[in-house]
Amino acid sequence: MINNNTKQQILETVRIEEVVGDFVSLKKRGANLLGNCPFHNERTPSFTVSPVKGFYKCFGCGKAGDSITFVMEHEHFTFPEALRYLAKKYSIPIEEEAPTAEFIEQQTQRENLFTVTAFAEKFYQDYLWENEEGKAIGLSYFRERGFTDDVIRRFNLGFAPDKWDGLVTAAEAAGHQQELLEKTGLIIVQENKKYDRFRGRVIFPIHNLTGRVVAFGARILKTDPKSPKYLNSPETEIYYKSKNLYGIAQARKSIAAFDSCYLVEGYTDVVSMHQAGIENVVASSGTALTIEQIRLIGRYTRNISVLYDGDPAGIKASLRGIDLILEEGMNVRVVLFPDGEDPDSYAKRVSTEELKVFLKEQAVDFITFKTKLLLSDASGDPIKKAALIRDIVETIAKVPDAITRSTYIKHTSDLMEMSETVLIGELNKIFTSTR
Ligand code: UTP
Ligand code: MN
Repeated sequence: MINNNTKQQILETVRIEEVVGDFVSLKKRGANLLGNCPFHNERTPSFTVSPVKGFYKCFGCGKAGDSITFVMEHEHFTFPEALRYLAKKYSIPIEEEAPTAEFIEQQTQRENLFTVTAFAEKFYQDYLWENEEGKAIGLSYFRERGFTDDVIRRFNLGFAPDKWDGLVTAAEAAGHQQELLEKTGLIIVQENKKYDRFRGRVIFPIHNLTGRVVAFGARILKTDPKSPKYLNSPETEIYYKSKNLYGIAQARKSIAAFDSCYLVEGYTDVVSMHQAGIENVVASSGTALTIEQIRLIGRYTRNISVLYDGDPAGIKASLRGIDLILEEGMNVRVVLFPDGEDPDSYAKRVSTEELKVFLKEQAVDFITFKTKLLLSDASGDPIKKAALIRDIVETIAKVPDAITRSTYIKHTSDLMEMSETVLIGELNKIFTSTR
């Protein structure tokens, strides 16, 4: 238990604008700071932070409080978790009182799961760096892929031993209960037999916003048509796939600082971009983008660039997800990589400077991108072209801001050689039929 002296010291040291600023991008507005409220969905900022009073208040949803309530609400922390988080942020040493029976009881299920995932992360990491098998197979795999030791450590990458009980034996020897190991999905229990889920694979730990491990992705090393390339943790009480983005903990500061975020597909894309010095990057991990993931990015920036590898089927499949970003009122750009390359391979092939120039020069706004993509399909076929116009106008209709919409209409009319009046007519049809 944290003693009163420490509590007092935390309260005197924390600065609300820094605590909130880790999660919300804030702009100065007189004596206060202003940003988009992280507790409700809004497009016009109404969330104010007062450094003088040490308080935040949202004039949209009414949420208000101090640094402690902010991290409690935002991170779903308990009071002691919030204090520990703030103490760590400000390097305040924690003086402990002996834990009471009540405190021990209060240890939540979530905390227990976090203890297990943290153990496993360290286990896999130690195995990579210290064990002969780990070094010979896992570490050399990463190095052959061109990952530096520095970036391997930055993402806490690891290796799962190629046997049935590597983790479970070590975890139980360290006192972790079988039930918890099973609940995190790290081991599988079947008819009184238990075994590790991840075996002989390199490990990508998946962290939540505050950097705690919630799950793992595990990549196979050889090509085996019978096993999937990646195995991932199942959903658990601490891991909701649809609410998580790989790399968000490592990226969030940079996303806020650059006021933009790159969205890639895979774990290795994130790691390689970091290695190339581009840190405002997260991955949807191969699944369709969700509204929660978009809002997670939206806490830090309104600008998203989606990086695609040049596979047309994959691109078409993901167009819907991007409409969702537009619906949130965010700006979407698209960068298309040359055929057969993904951000990982490209980042390794060219210099950091070349990569930065490429990302800048290739970025096109999403509606232009989609129009050109569909136009190339429709080439000269009037029926296809009519369908395409409806499709594009439906996307434009998702944009909440009327001025932005009319800019898109104008631009699309040029691209499609189609009068603005026709497009506006289509747009109005959509508005009258659905709203
Ligand atoms: P990719 O197949 O593009 O893999 O899948 P990758 O990230 O480029 O990996 P490397 O470079 O081949 O090693 C993109 C993402 O989809 C998810 C993973 O999150 C992966 O990073 N995925 C893919 C799975 O979850 N399972 C799979 O079997 C394949
Ligand atoms: Mn790849």
